[in-house]
Amino acid sequence: MSQNRQIILKQRPQGAIREADFAVREAAVPLLEPGQFLVQNSHFSLDAGFRKWMNEGADDNYLTAMPLDAPVQSIVLGRVVESHHSSYPADTLVLGRSAWESYSVFSDADFVQKLAVDSSFPLHEYLATLGPTGLTAYFGLLDIGRPKAGETVLVSAAGGAVGSVVGQIAKILGCRTVGIASSAEKCLWLKEQLGYDATINHQAPEGLEPQLRRELPEGFDIYFDNVGGRMLDLALLHMKERARVVLCGAISEYDKTGEHTGIHHLWEFITKRAMAAGFMFSDYVEEYPAAIQQMAAWIGQGKLKSVVEIYQGIEATPRAFCDMMEGRNRGKCIVRL
Ligand SMILES: NC(=O)c1ccc[n+]([C@@H]2O[C@H](COP(=O)([O-])OP(=O)(O)OC[C@H]3O[C@@H](n4cnc5c(N)ncnc54)[C@H](OP(=O)(O)O)[C@@H]3O)[C@@H](O)[C@H]2O)c1
Repeated sequence: MSQNRQIILKQRPQGAIREADFAVREAAVPLLEPGQFLVQNSHFSLDAGFRKWMNEGADDNYLTAMPLDAPVQSIVLGRVVESHHSSYPADTLVLGRSAWESYSVFSDADFVQKLAVDSSFPLHEYLATLGPTGLTAYFGLLDIGRPKAGETVLVSAAGGAVGSVVGQIAKILGCRTVGIASSAEKCLWLKEQLGYDATINHQAPEGLEPQLRRELPEGFDIYFDNVGGRMLDLALLHMKERARVVLCGAISEYDKTGEHTGIHHLWEFITKRAMAAGFMFSDYVEEYPAAIQQMAAWIGQGKLKSVVEIYQGIEATPRAFCDMMEGRNRGKCIVRL
């Protein structure tokens, strides 16, 4: 068996993440203990949320801060190549939380699941729309947002992995969709390829506020928030009565080590009888199969486009992650080994 190639976190990122924060290293492929199995990874899922746990002291109830000089944590997809675990024989396809490395060891103590795949979809789809990303969009929008036909749904990071799925599901359900992205070119793509009815360029010189007013003349019913911070705060000024704010992520805050940016517009929740709720896609494990079946059907019917950007080779992982954090991506970023 060849060496285990790994991408390690070399230093704590200061502000915006850079490729120089990572390094490639070779390690021995670990020997298995009883109850363990070895997976040869074929794909990494690049998830913006993991940036937060690269910060010093980022421990919370969900994950601990990533240690330095250790492989960067990630969701991975791969195949069992050696096993001391009777439920995971060689050749089993799995999806699990591990790291940017060519081989990972798992046991029952880890987050890992067998993958039942429909061969009419490419394998990487199980990290994208039919995987954690699509499930995040699906449960956040349907369970927290509770959309009804005719309602207006505002989505931030609207062309990213989660956002691109949210906007399309909202359209399938008969909503008007307004997407926020970082360039005029990306905004045009949101309309032409993802069917957004209106867009807002958060980098445009006129600023966010006049665009929110223009594109949401009556306000929004649902805000699917991937960005947090100042964008969230400004959006709250445009809630309709009984609006729902889906707190999915706060990417604008992940570069910061101190307190998150304060949210000021809470009074509006009272007068608008609005609500906001956070969620983790992993809250819905029991409901994954039905959600995957629904999204697979929408893809099959041509109603839902799965937008995926694939980078080739483990060495491309740091660049891919930085590109995603800088908003260069369209849809889901995946590395194929
Ligand atoms: N709750 C859950 O269970 C769960 C699960 C998965 C992901 N998430 C969250 O979902 C969000 C999206 O994650 P993802 O993995 O799908 O990433 P993504 O949306 O594919 O990529 C991140 C996007 O965020 C935008 N962005 C980056 N910095 C920004 C800033 N300072 N202000 C505004 N926009 C910024 C960029 O798009 P623009 O070009 O449009 O700016 C970029 O393309 C993250 O907040 C993540 O933590 C939550």
